[in-house]
Order: sequence, then C-alpha cells, then structure tokens
Amino acid sequence: MNGASAGKKILSMLGQPDPVWGGEIPDNAGLQLDNVTFSYDGGREVLKSVCMDFPQRGMTAIVGESGCGKSTVVGLLTGALRPASGTVSAGGKELGSLSREAYYSKLAVVSCNTYIFNTTVRGNFRLAKKDVTDEEMMTALEKVNLADFIRENGGFDREITEDAANISGGQKQRLALAVNLVADKDIYIFDEATSNIDIESEAVIMQNIKSLSASKNVIVISHRLENIVPADLIYYMENGVVRSHGTHGELMKLPGGYSTLYTAQKELENGYTEVE
Ligand SMILES: Nc1ncnc2c1ncn2[C@@H]1O[C@H](COP(=O)(O)OP(=O)(O)OP(=O)(O)O)[C@@H](O)[C@H]1O
Ligand SMILES: [Mg+2]
Repeated sequence: MNGASAGKKILSMLGQPDPVWGGEIPDNAGLQLDNVTFSYDGGREVLKSVCMDFPQRGMTAIVGESGCGKSTVVGLLTGALRPASGTVSAGGKELGSLSREAYYSKLAVVSCNTYIFNTTVRGNFRLAKKDVTDEEMMTALEKVNLADFIRENGGFDREITEDAANISGGQKQRLALAVNLVADKDIYIFDEATSNIDIESEAVIMQNIKSLSASKNVIVISHRLENIVPADLIYYMENGVVRSHGTHGELMKLPGGYSTLYTAQKELENGYTEVE
C-alpha cells in the first residue's frame, strides 16, 4: 500500500461510526463471522454473506486476490468495523456485547505496518509483557530469526529509532512479531505479517506460527500461498464472498479459484528461479 492509498484508507476509517462495546467477557477464544455483509460507504458491499469459523486452536488462513476483502475481515474481527448485517462473535458472544479491554487482552494483530516504539529492544518487549525475562526475549527473537542480529548489534539495550540506518524495515517487522509472541495472547491475527521479510526468515517464522497454532487461535493472511499450505482450514475469497474453503489438498482438487491462483504463483516462482 502506498502513502496516498494508506491516507485514503485512514480517512475513510475515520468516517466509520464509533463501535459500541459492552461489559461481557468472552468465554473462549473461538471467533465466528455469521452471514456478514459489510460496506465502507453504505453502498458498495465489500463483504457479502460471509461465514467463517476460527476455532480456539488451529491455523486458519484467508486468501484471495488483492482487494477481495481479507483485511476488512480482520477489521471486523478486531471490532474496529461492524457488520451492516450478520454477526461477529468471540467465544459465542457478539463483539458489541464484550468488554473491549477484556477482548483486546486476548488478541494480537500483526500486520506489515505494526508499530515499533522509539525505545530499546527491551523497552518494546516490556510494553507487551511487563516482567519479560531475557530468556523469553531471546526465545521470541530466535522464532523470528533475529536473535543473532540483536546479539551482535547492542543486545536488548539497543535503541530502535526511525532512522533506517539503525534497523531495516524487515528487521523492524520481525521485532514487532517477536514482541507480539511474548505477549502470550489467545488469538493471533497475522495480516501480511511477513510481507517485507526475506525468504529464509519467512520460512522460520511460518514454522513458528504453525507451532503456535497448536495451542492458540491463529489466523494467517498471506499473498504467498506457499505460507498457508499447512493451514488446518483455508478460506478462499473472491470479490467479498467466500468462494470455497477446505484444506490445501481439498482446494487443489476443485477446478479454478484457489488451485488456479496457487498454480500460477508456483509457476511464477519457478520461472524466477530458472532465470537466476
Ligand atoms: N477504509 C476503506 N474505505 C473504503 N474502501 C475500502 C477501505 N478499505 C478497503 N476498502 C475497499 O474494500 C475492498 C476490500 O479491501 P481489503 O483491504 O479488505 O482487501 P484485501 O483483500 O485485504 O486486499 P490486499 O490483499 O491488497 O491487502 C477493496 O475494494 C478496497 O478498495
Ligand atoms: Mg489486506
């Protein structure tokens, strides 16, 4: 997303009504979209009758071409956006009835522009977990392939600044991921969380995201379909509707849609490899 489109997005988000919250506590970390329709402008429907189920444990992926509505689903799951019709619920309770604080204490959302603060590496970790230990920080940094870099470049007391010479975009993104991993949430949403990250680190991160899903509700959105092949369930979207869902193996057996996108991407990647 470029600056202009990001700006436009923020402006039109500001136009959204303030979401209502309540006082209830979600009973579990399962999330559900039931027959959800959504429009940003009250006219064009960006999501149409979307049903999705994200169980308490497991890796669920949402894929589809740019603009099909994936990040809008994330907006609805965080409660920042509310459906025009249908319901979004957490632990069986509609989001609007939940305490926002209680819900957000269970939820981590990591996107390609997740924020890192201008403080030390340790300072960033402490914002996520007050009493974080050195060992916990190191384990999290290993999971995002950043441990060596931090060890060799000033350790936990290294200041992170906006200055690009200090830390690269991909490293910042990996640090943001590590910080979210120590936060010990019940629900993790990764929306293009590895988009600026080198292939080698991405492979390490995706393996750790998969292991995380053994005990957490993990939702992954990635343009690179290879990343979501191990998902327990994949929702394939087209123009605001869920066109099909299943495992990678199941979706590959269906004609068109997911299998066409996957095959085209594979051919492109193989083509690049041959040219190199
Ligand atoms: N804040 C907004 N205001 C108005 N329209 C929006 C806004 N955000 C997204 N849209 C529109 O809603 C549709 C779905 O957008 P969304 O960001 O959910 O797609 P996406 O699948 O996440 O795309 P990408 O893969 O490029 O991230 C698009 O047509 C987009 O232009
Ligand atoms: Mg998106």
